[in-house]
Amino acid sequence: MSQQIIEELLSKLSIEEKVKILVGIGDTTSSQLARVPGAAGQTHPIERLNIPGFVLADGPAGVRIENPACRATAFPVEVMLASTWNPELVEQVGKAMGEEARSCGVDVLLAPALNIHRHPLGGRNFEYFSEDPLLSGKIASAYVRGVQSAGIGACIKHFVGNEQETGRWGLDTFVSERALREIYLKPFEIAVKEAKPWSVMSAYNKLNGVHCSENEWLLTTVLREEWGFDGFVMTDWGAGEDVVRQINAGNDVIMPGGQDKLEQVLKAVREGKIPIETIDRAVTRVLSKLLGSAGYKSTPGKPDLEAHAKIAYEAAVEGMVLLKNEGALPIDRGKKIAFFGVGQILTVKGGMGSGHTHPPYVSTILDAARERSLAIDEELAKKYAEAVSTYKEELEIFYRDEPDKPSISEDVVGEADIYATAQRNDLAVIVVTRVSGEGWDLAPEDFYLRDDEKWLIDTVSEAYRKIGKPVVAILNIGTPIDVASWREKVDAILLAWQPGQEAGRAIIDTLLGLVNPSGKLPTTFPKTLGDVPSWTFGGEPAGSPKSVTYEEDIYVGYRYYDTFGKEPAYEFGYGLSYTTFSYSDLSIEQDSEQVKVKFRVTNTGKMPGKEVAQVYVKPPKGKIDKPQKELKAFKKTRLLQPGEHEDIVLTIGYKDMASFNGKEWVLEKGTYKIMVGSSSRRIHLEGEFKIHEEKTFRN
Ligand code: BGC
Repeated sequence: MSQQIIEELLSKLSIEEKVKILVGIGDTTSSQLARVPGAAGQTHPIERLNIPGFVLADGPAGVRIENPACRATAFPVEVMLASTWNPELVEQVGKAMGEEARSCGVDVLLAPALNIHRHPLGGRNFEYFSEDPLLSGKIASAYVRGVQSAGIGACIKHFVGNEQETGRWGLDTFVSERALREIYLKPFEIAVKEAKPWSVMSAYNKLNGVHCSENEWLLTTVLREEWGFDGFVMTDWGAGEDVVRQINAGNDVIMPGGQDKLEQVLKAVREGKIPIETIDRAVTRVLSKLLGSAGYKSTPGKPDLEAHAKIAYEAAVEGMVLLKNEGALPIDRGKKIAFFGVGQILTVKGGMGSGHTHPPYVSTILDAARERSLAIDEELAKKYAEAVSTYKEELEIFYRDEPDKPSISEDVVGEADIYATAQRNDLAVIVVTRVSGEGWDLAPEDFYLRDDEKWLIDTVSEAYRKIGKPVVAILNIGTPIDVASWREKVDAILLAWQPGQEAGRAIIDTLLGLVNPSGKLPTTFPKTLGDVPSWTFGGEPAGSPKSVTYEEDIYVGYRYYDTFGKEPAYEFGYGLSYTTFSYSDLSIEQDSEQVKVKFRVTNTGKMPGKEVAQVYVKPPKGKIDKPQKELKAFKKTRLLQPGEHEDIVLTIGYKDMASFNGKEWVLEKGTYKIMVGSSSRRIHLEGEFKIHEEKTFRN
């Protein structure tokens, strides 16, 4: 929107009207002013100047509006989008979400969320991409580009250090500036620089003593002055303590707002506590983005939900990670299959809280198996249907709304029944599910299997494998769980995450080999919780701690496991395929700005497939402690036919290999190793390059 139009508007707006643009209307379900009842938030309209109320709606897995009139596509959760390692595909997902949001009259989609998987028990991990800042930042950039290509804004959140739910409102996150810069701020920096999101949401927590929403260093020095962000910042819903400090620090919009907040800001302006220039600056930032929004201009219409369902399916299929396969997969169509686990019916599409969705349908595993005419054990399926039928009302809510799982124990069938099914079927498939959500972190019991789940796996495994019949496990989960203690009892494990409304079809088609799994882990599966470097969700008082210290510093995820010699259950970047790939022809070139890495990936197996090639850099031993290796570039190949190859060229800027020493970014001199692999631990090609003189960088 042109500066001139905004200046004209500023000259016409009264102080009260300006403040109204910056403070939300409160609850959109009860407010008369709401344009889209049930959206997460809205600014006040200024009708006399034709400025609409701008509508903001969640969220990361699809548009969430709490209004039965607004059904929207449920896409895979963010951790699954990251598992695709496919920015082009994620951009399509973002575009589809943006179009749906626009057709509902939404101006800003409150997504994506960019916090880091610091601990497997993080309650909102499903809503975040990865433990790695580069993967998070690249996938987020694609997502933002997609959303904004629909003519509305994206909002990257929660800025920053919101890695846990326990005590989240007032929690003080203590973290070194180095870890902030290299790990926690990094994905935001990449997304701001590469995709120019219209807005940023400041987080609930404090950062090193100051509320994020009141933190001038964060919102002004780093975000705007260093990174060049030119959009507006909004609070998370109800975050922070003091609107005066918030607006003065560079937090332009107060959400969800309401009359009290409006009066507080107005009073502060009148008393001179917030300079009018600061208000003008914030209004300019808001209008310069939102007056251009297609959301408020669009007439409510029906987006192409069928086309979007296909995109949701593609994303789900590409985000499937095959963790183990000893010949059990793919399954031949004619085989008789016994499905175990209530998740075959209660298939989990996504997580709970503001990131949930209201899709028109959810394809469950059992429905999809029937749809594909598989020879399933119907007698067994009936038992599961009976077991969950007492929860009929909850089920409706479960699929359409909050997936608060009715807690049904996995002893639906007895031991004798299980043994009987082994006689009449060719293989068993066991579904293990987990649901998590905003507002609480998971407990150790959620990581380790429950007794009833262990019993089911033990019994099915004994009954089938004793007579030479394979057992497959499907993990329908949002964050890593224990696999190390039971994986020997099954022949294959498919990590299906929470795949959105196309869950069942995507899972069944992968089991059948109609599609070849090509997802890779965006986060480590540790062997035990004791192995995780960041054990704590904060100190005293237990349950609502006042602070958390990121003692592991930069050693998050694989950076810790690799540097300190801890063997994970499945490492970052890992994932199998039904075909095989070879890596060859590595060459490394250097110029004054960057390193260029070239290599070839060839499909050496019998099935078409895609591979995610990953480039890690191992630094020399220098003055600064560095992780053993770090992901610096990646590329998902196109679908390669057997025998076909793709030549890949990736560039890595020197600055992107540098470390933050407290003042500036430093790339020490020495010999750096380039490691090209199919995971962080499966390295197929190695080369090196030299840095002769130390290099330093700012911002
Ligand atoms: C969440 C945000 C969300 C907002 C609006 C908050 O509770 O933390 O992620 O966008 O609500 O629904």
